[in-house]
Amino acid sequence: MTSPTPPCAPEDVRRVACVGAGVIGGGWVAHFLARGYDVTAWDPAPDAEPKLRRLVDAAWPALTRLGLAEGACANRLTVAATLQEAVADAQFVQESAPEKLELKRNLLRRLDAAAPAGVVIASSTSGYPMTDMQTEAADPGRLVVGHPFNPPYLIPLVEVVGGERTSAGTVAWASRFYEVAGKSVITMDREVPGFIANRLQEALWREALHMIANGEATVREIDASITEGPGLRWAFMGPMLTFALAGGEGGMAHMLDHFGPSLKSPWTRLEAPELDRKLYDAVVAGCDEAADGRTIADLVAERDRGVIDVLRATGRLPRQRTAGEAAE
Ligand SMILES: NC(=O)c1ccc[n+]([C@@H]2O[C@H](COP(=O)([O-])OP(=O)(O)OC[C@H]3O[C@@H](n4cnc5c(N)ncnc54)[C@H](O)[C@@H]3O)[C@@H](O)[C@H]2O)c1
Repeated sequence: MTSPTPPCAPEDVRRVACVGAGVIGGGWVAHFLARGYDVTAWDPAPDAEPKLRRLVDAAWPALTRLGLAEGACANRLTVAATLQEAVADAQFVQESAPEKLELKRNLLRRLDAAAPAGVVIASSTSGYPMTDMQTEAADPGRLVVGHPFNPPYLIPLVEVVGGERTSAGTVAWASRFYEVAGKSVITMDREVPGFIANRLQEALWREALHMIANGEATVREIDASITEGPGLRWAFMGPMLTFALAGGEGGMAHMLDHFGPSLKSPWTRLEAPELDRKLYDAVVAGCDEAADGRTIADLVAERDRGVIDVLRATGRLPRQRTAGEAAE
């Protein structure tokens, strides 16, 4: 069966429903309100409404500093008494209920039954493939993962991926909607457990736990190794391009020639893939593409500016002396 098409274009959405209003659902509510949408929320917890309003109130000063969309107002939040009421006239639904597979399956079935035909329903799941969650819904074609990062009103990234029964149109519609709603979107063309960013975070997290378990590093050392080290670069340039700069003027190709053999060294418990020609070429070509016309010298200048900006913004650079003070 093909899914009915969404009743409106991503650009025309005005009303969003957020189902499950805890840390993530509440963060989504704050984000959509700040982008000027009417938001209806539903959460079965008896104290959900005051908690949600406290979360939105606490986020609002930061959102105001960031810049609100025209007409954005925290009063445009309605808390519905039932799931059906929450989604009855929604043009997009974001589900953020607890990470329990049976609960998600059942909830997505109920949301699908209650939401207007064709309206896209996205799940905030941290790791379940949509294929496993869409099993009960009458129209699985409109169900998609839209995985955010905490807090969704500040961290731009959303990973969008469909399940085996999600229609390609739903994936494209959701990606476009999130972009229009001010998010930074990665659209994946296949399901991978943990998506992209959590796999990378998880690799670091597991290695850190191994190091603590073995007495190789303390919690404090692990945190400092990132905040005083690579983390300073990752805020504005990802791990691939920053490693390309470790290859000097030779870029990623030289980096791989130089450090490729280290893949055989026991520098992590994670097994390295074989650095064959195909992987080598994919990494080098990927870096060229990501550089998007910038030379190595451009990237070095960008990195250096970025590190200084991050150090300054987080209060880790001594205040610069003025010319007058320097002369004293
Ligand atoms: N916390 C994070 O950093 C993070 C990041 C990305 C994605 N996620 C995902 O977001 C989802 C929500 O996580 P959270 O951290 O906000 O959890 P949370 O416990 O803070 O919030 C879950 C909310 O869902 C409500 N709820 C319980 N049963 C429900 C039901 N049947 N229908 C609707 N709502 C129900 C609860 O009352 C609660 O308010 C999960 O799928 C999680 O994996 C979490």
